[in-house]
Amino acid sequence: MRHLIDPLDFTREETDRLLALAGRIIEDPAAYAHRCDGRILATLFYEPSTRTRLSFESAMMRLGGKVLGFAGADSSSATKGESVADTARMVSAYADVIAMRHFKEGAPYVASRYAGVPVINAGDGGHNHPTQTLTDLLTILRCRGKIGGTTIGLCGDLKFGRTVHSLIKALARYEDINFVFISPEELKVPGYILKEVVEPSGHPYETVRTMEEVMPRLDILYMTRVQRERFFNEEDYVRLKDSFILTRDKLRTARQDLAVMHPLPRVNEIAADVDSDPRAKYFEQARNGVYVRMALILALLGIESDILEA
Ligand code: NCD
Repeated sequence: MRHLIDPLDFTREETDRLLALAGRIIEDPAAYAHRCDGRILATLFYEPSTRTRLSFESAMMRLGGKVLGFAGADSSSATKGESVADTARMVSAYADVIAMRHFKEGAPYVASRYAGVPVINAGDGGHNHPTQTLTDLLTILRCRGKIGGTTIGLCGDLKFGRTVHSLIKALARYEDINFVFISPEELKVPGYILKEVVEPSGHPYETVRTMEEVMPRLDILYMTRVQRERFFNEEDYVRLKDSFILTRDKLRTARQDLAVMHPLPRVNEIAADVDSDPRAKYFEQARNGVYVRMALILALLGIESDILEA
C-alpha cells in the first residue's frame, strides 16, 4: 500500500503523472464527480488548518465521497492520551484513506506504519508538507508550462517553514533549478536540507538578505509566513516577524512573467495592494490545492490505476 508522507515517496515520474491527472480534472471536473462514490476520507487534524483540511474535504466531496474527522487535538482522544498508532489503526476501520496533520514531526509516518489504509501527511511540525508541494508544483507548471528551467526565490521563514522544505526536495529532482534563499540569518534553510538535498542535486543556490537585490532575476517568488507557533520565545518572533514584506513598489523591478506564490495564510508579508497585480498567483495556488488532492485521492485508492507504481 502506498502512502504520501515525504514528497520523495513518489518518484518524479509518479509526481508528473499525478500533476497531469490534476490538469485533466481541471479541464473536466464532471468526469470525476462520482469516482469516489461510497468512499470515505478521514481528516485527523491535531493542528490548526483552513486550506489544507477544507481542500481535502472539498476534494473528496467533489469526487462523490464522504468525509469524517476532527479539526483539533482537543476534540479527539489525544487529550486522553491515545497514541497516534492506536488512532490510525482504529480509523482504518472507519475510512478508506486518512489525511493527518500533526504538530510532531514524524507522526503521520508512525500512523502509516499502523494504518490499514493509505495515509497522507497534511503537515508534520516543521518537517514536511507534501500535498502543499504538489499544489505548488501544479501552480508552477500551470504558470510557466514547465517546472524545470526555473529560478525560484524562497523568502521568509526558511527554517521552520515545512512547505519550503518539501518544495526544495521536490524541485531538486527537476532540471535547471536555481535556488535563491532570502531570509534573515536566524531563519535560514536548515543545514540538513542543504547537505542532503540541495548540494547533492548539483543545482546552484545562493543565500541573500533582501528580495530587492534578486527581484529582476526571479521566475517565482515564494513568500512564507514567519512560523510563530514554532518559535521558542516571543521576543525572537517579534524581532523577526516583519523581516520581509512584499509591496507593490518592490515588484517594480520584477519580470512581467514573475509568479508570486504563498502557501497562505499570510499575516503581513504580502501587502494587500499586491493582490490585484496579475503576478499574484497565491489565490489560484490555493484553488489548485483542491484538484491536486482529488488526483492524489484517486491515485492512492487505485481508482486511477496508472499513476503510482504497484
Ligand atoms: C502552511 C502550513 O500549514 O505549513 N499552510 C498551508 O498548509 N497552506 C503554511 C503556513 O502555515 O504558514
